[in-house]
Amino acid sequence: MDQPDVFRQRYGRWALIIGGSDGLGADFARDIARRGVNCVLVARRLPVLEAMAAELRAETGVDVRTAAIDIAQSDVVNQLAALVEDIDLGLVVFNAGADSSGSTFLGSPLSMWQDIVRRNVNVLTEGLYHFAGRFVRQRRGGLLIVGSAAAFGGGARAGIYTATKGFGLNLGESLWAELKPHGVDVLTLCFLVGDTPVLRSALARNAIPVEAVGAASTRDLAKAALDALPDGPMLNFDEDLAAPNPLTSAAARREHVLQVSAGLEQFYGAPEPI
Ligand SMILES: NC(=O)c1ccc[n+]([C@@H]2O[C@H](COP(=O)([O-])OP(=O)(O)OC[C@H]3O[C@@H](n4cnc5c(N)ncnc54)[C@H](OP(=O)(O)O)[C@@H]3O)[C@@H](O)[C@H]2O)c1
Repeated sequence: MDQPDVFRQRYGRWALIIGGSDGLGADFARDIARRGVNCVLVARRLPVLEAMAAELRAETGVDVRTAAIDIAQSDVVNQLAALVEDIDLGLVVFNAGADSSGSTFLGSPLSMWQDIVRRNVNVLTEGLYHFAGRFVRQRRGGLLIVGSAAAFGGGARAGIYTATKGFGLNLGESLWAELKPHGVDVLTLCFLVGDTPVLRSALARNAIPVEAVGAASTRDLAKAALDALPDGPMLNFDEDLAAPNPLTSAAARREHVLQVSAGLEQFYGAPEPI
């Protein structure tokens, strides 16, 4: 899927990248723009967004829209929907979603966890609902959820983060099975560590050199996920293909999703038309 014409036919002329101003989101935007697709970039800091937009326009010639929106706020999806209503949108990347606080559950105010849940669960759900509906109606599109290896299980200092990433992975896998017959691709990207500004500032707080953590290049992560978009439901960038683990193997999880989907279709009957 790295031939620009095929990519554009499948995903349209515009992509929305939520958290598209730096780090992994910026490399999604660069890679998408190199495939000849125009970009709508959303993040909170307008100057960073504008710098990214200027780089994309200068280096690839694509059109770029920017909007400074905090996706941890309510009523965000209406704003996102309005931003892209008039364009041929066929791809949404849900990138923003980190938590590098390292806090225990009781070590931070409840409001901090509520913000992360709103961003990684509520806004993700509402965004997927809106854009999946739009893409089903146009019978074409791609939904790319940036997840994490944190989705595979919980751990101290990562309760809300792992829980919300598990939510994204399970929802993404289910939507892959539901939307495939309607021409819509869904992929969740899972990986351990990526070399992003958020990671670097978390490491700097603890005087850990970035080389010590084996962080993947965001350019490689973005390319791998965009290439794998038609082959969901999940890409585990760090998968050890020589020793597949049913919990973390993309092929084993795909098989599990298919089995669950077939079992539930037998139980509930054919799904309602959408
Ligand atoms: N870095 C890692 O090691 C790692 C490992 C596994 C998975 N991941 C996943 O990779 C994704 C990207 O992670 P990241 O480390 O680059 O940090 P991130 O904060 O999730 O993403 C950074 C991008 O999102 C924007 N953003 C963050 N919060 C936002 C908000 N509330 N509203 C709108 N935009 C927002 C940032 O711009 P502004 O700050 O200007 O808003 C920036 O463009 C996340 O989903 C994360 O869970 C990361």
